[in-house]
Amino acid sequence: MKIVVASDHGGFELKEFIKGYLEKKGHFISDVGTFDECTSVDYPDYASLAANKVLSKEVDFGIIFCGTGIGISIAANKVKGIRAALCHDIFTAKMAKMHNNANILALGGRLLGKGIAIEIVEAFINTEFEGGRHQSRLDK
Ligand code: RB5
Repeated sequence: MKIVVASDHGGFELKEFIKGYLEKKGHFISDVGTFDECTSVDYPDYASLAANKVLSKEVDFGIIFCGTGIGISIAANKVKGIRAALCHDIFTAKMAKMHNNANILALGGRLLGKGIAIEIVEAFINTEFEGGRHQSRLDK
């Protein structure tokens, strides 16, 4: 799949780890930054870069990271057409696809261990949107 990844400095380390993991699995990764964790940057700038890649259909979906995942998910959700889901566990990652058809997964780099982060990403990738009544709700 084609996936855009983005983070601020707080999510940088986990972004790099997940990027490497997904590349090894054969996915195409578009990394829009940030590119180091020493420089303090503003998460809305990176949310916007990722959101635009998703909306332009250059990628299938996005994964965005900040310290908690809160700020960058709030920022991404201000872009019309983006449904960013902040997930801390496998259940929410699955539901974010099944019921919400999320097109961006948001993760907290300062919260999640690498093992659970991989499980969350895999659950998100491997779950399908159920459509039906959930589509009507998305349309509203
Ligand atoms: C940056 O220090 C931190 O505030 C940011 O990464 C994020 O957690 C905000 O929601």
